[in-house]
Amino acid sequence: MAVTIAMANQKGGVGKTTSTIEFASILTKLGKKVLTIDLDQQCNLTKNAEADRSAPTIFDLFSRDDVDIEKAIQKVSAGYYIIAGSPEMSKADKIFDDPTAVYLLDDLLDALSEDYDYFLIDNAPARNIPLNMSYIAADYFIMCADSGEDSLDGIDAIVSDMMKFHKSGKRSLSDAKILGIVVSRFRQTNIGNAVIEIIQDKVENDIPDILKPIEPPFIMTVREAAAVDEAKMVHKPVETYKRSSNAAIDYRRIVDEIVRRLEEE
Ligand SMILES: Nc1ncnc2c1ncn2[C@@H]1O[C@H](COP(=O)(O)OP(=O)(O)OP(=O)(O)O)[C@@H](O)[C@H]1O
Ligand SMILES: [Mg+2]
Repeated sequence: MAVTIAMANQKGGVGKTTSTIEFASILTKLGKKVLTIDLDQQCNLTKNAEADRSAPTIFDLFSRDDVDIEKAIQKVSAGYYIIAGSPEMSKADKIFDDPTAVYLLDDLLDALSEDYDYFLIDNAPARNIPLNMSYIAADYFIMCADSGEDSLDGIDAIVSDMMKFHKSGKRSLSDAKILGIVVSRFRQTNIGNAVIEIIQDKVENDIPDILKPIEPPFIMTVREAAAVDEAKMVHKPVETYKRSSNAAIDYRRIVDEIVRRLEEE
């Protein structure tokens, strides 16, 4: 059975897509079979993976019954699999507003669960219906943040939404937990260190126990590295573009931690 991890923060540019790409590439190198799902209308993950844009997208799978799921799953050059995103996802909140639509992603992934080790969901910078679908579909959330105040507020917003969707509440059927927080583009400055302290305080005091796995959510940093943007230019994970870069080293450290924790869950 695959483990489903969703990347999230309503704040843009905090490393959700980069983390999805690096986690997928590194897990693939570790021998895991990984399917990524691009829920973001910007399609940054899809573009980076150089997926075939004429193949059926996640929007097609959500909106039509006659789409062959096997045609929608593509293997990318970095070795992982992807269901491509679509600009049409900008209409998601209007089209998927039926109360049952929030289960679409969960149903889709359930049917594929035997075939993969990990599903990684890349979310848009928004509190939208696709994010709600992720609350239902995911076993774990990893929140991405940077040193900006908005991204820290974004953590609070996800915690509050997760509680609304939690099994213990009235709304629905989520038992997703927060596996950890990745601080992207980290610099060891006074601001960088202050941000870590603020997040530590949030993890200790603001995340309810019901959203915590066996171990409290990890807080791990990815150092800022020019190689990350360079790798994007050539559509490669930094893991293959420059595996000696600080960012690649940090992402491998995070993946090791994720794998270790999941083995203990
Ligand atoms: N460790 C890093 N060092 C340097 N640049 C980074 C690092 N992590 C991410 N970036 C850069 O920051 C930018 C934003 O990252 P990314 O696209 O992953 O964020 P995002 O949260 O997915 O954004 P969006 O919300 O728009 O989808 C990108 O240009 C990316 O290459
Ligand atoms: Mg993104």
